Amino acid sequence: MDVFKIIGGHQLSGIVQASGSKNSALPLFAASLLTEDESIIENVPDLSDIQFMAEIIADLGAEVEKLDPNTWRINPKAIVHFAPYDLVRKMRASICLLGPLAARLGRAEIPMPGGCVIGNRPIDLHIRALESLGAKVELKGGVVQIDAANLKGASIFMGGRHGSTVTGTANAIMAASLSQGTTVLDGAACEPEIVDLCEMLTKMGAIIQGMGSHRLEIQGVSKLHGCHHRVIPDRIETATYAIAAGITNGEICIQGCQPKHLGAFANVMQECGMEMESSPDGNLSIKVSPGGLKPFEVITLPYPGFPTDLQAQTTALACVVPGLSILTERVYPSRFMHVPELLRMGAEISLEGSSAIVLGGKKLKGAPVMASDLRASAALILAGLAAQDETWVQRIYHLDRGYDQFETKLQALGADVERLPEEALPKSFIPQFE
Ligand code: EPU
Repeated sequence: MDVFKIIGGHQLSGIVQASGSKNSALPLFAASLLTEDESIIENVPDLSDIQFMAEIIADLGAEVEKLDPNTWRINPKAIVHFAPYDLVRKMRASICLLGPLAARLGRAEIPMPGGCVIGNRPIDLHIRALESLGAKVELKGGVVQIDAANLKGASIFMGGRHGSTVTGTANAIMAASLSQGTTVLDGAACEPEIVDLCEMLTKMGAIIQGMGSHRLEIQGVSKLHGCHHRVIPDRIETATYAIAAGITNGEICIQGCQPKHLGAFANVMQECGMEMESSPDGNLSIKVSPGGLKPFEVITLPYPGFPTDLQAQTTALACVVPGLSILTERVYPSRFMHVPELLRMGAEISLEGSSAIVLGGKKLKGAPVMASDLRASAALILAGLAAQDETWVQRIYHLDRGYDQFETKLQALGADVERLPEEALPKSFIPQFE
């Protein structure tokens, strides 16, 4: 297992290229199974989660080929309806296979994804949607078994206690696309990644109205065909680099991104004293305004609200902003595993229910810290960029799931970040147990 060594205190400057969106690419790989034809997917980020998805799809029987680091060819002509637990347990997004397998093959067997440190992640809304379309769903020995011989269009409400579900909506759209008749999804997720999925399905022959809204109408078709699709830029990655500029008092430009997907984030950054300027060709320039950083308030919500996938990184930013900032989680109320690690770096944060109250402005101090999940690892690296001395981040395999060439891109912006083998970790940083 590799570790990151960061020597903080360097102001970032320069240009960074946005990668394709992980959370778009994963359901798009699943969508490619809805047809017997070949599809080509471009601008796919080079990540371990993508590799896991490719392995699962290949295990189902599809031909899967990485044509170059960011382009994949998928030919799913002969696939089976069951995926093994050994592969599925590595990644929760494998649940996106339920809809396509059920709709194309009339049955699906996918092991229930296991626990997750960011909070309870049930799949009741996925199952409710498939049952509404006429599927019979059973849980046997930890495996979700779906009999979906005759899926028929239905009216389905996609909302749950934490709002809409992103991958649940993806499953419902994919299944409805190959069902008989019309399906209406109310309370559907409207994240840009869902719009991207609808765009790809439309290229494949699906008929979908209401893209980008909470109400989708899908006219089922009997067959879909292959397509060529380019994944949208990763809005979470873009925003993470914007925070990197803010936390180091730097000035950077992110190229090839999609600023219009960052509305709620941009609003908070402006409140915080960052200047963000976007151009129509997908460039976003970010710097701290002459007045400096100011405290802010964040509430995470489904899109177009502030993304939960940016809460950890924004909490790291709040640590360097003088004054009291408050970050409240409404999507995953206990997604605060990064907080105890930030405390090790001298942050002053108290957790009150699902809110983190941050008294920022004191200089962070480098420390050995442990990443618990993807966004927490990004948050700890960002904190390290702003901290005095050395920060060592362990378990960065979490980071490799979702950030394409993170250290290379940060190095190009002037950060002192190094990926090292675990053995490089100073002995005094390794916990000793009796
Ligand atoms: N929920 C239910 N029942 C369900 C499904 C979800 O109660 O059947 C709840 C969840 O527990 C949560 C809320 O609804 O409280 C939203 O969950 P959602 O289903 O939208 O999450 P997801 O589809 O499993 C995707 C992203 C996550 C991101 C969330 C929220 C992918 C592959 N994953 O997960 O991304 O946090 O939406 O925006 O798209 C990440 O990239 O780090 C990540 C965790």
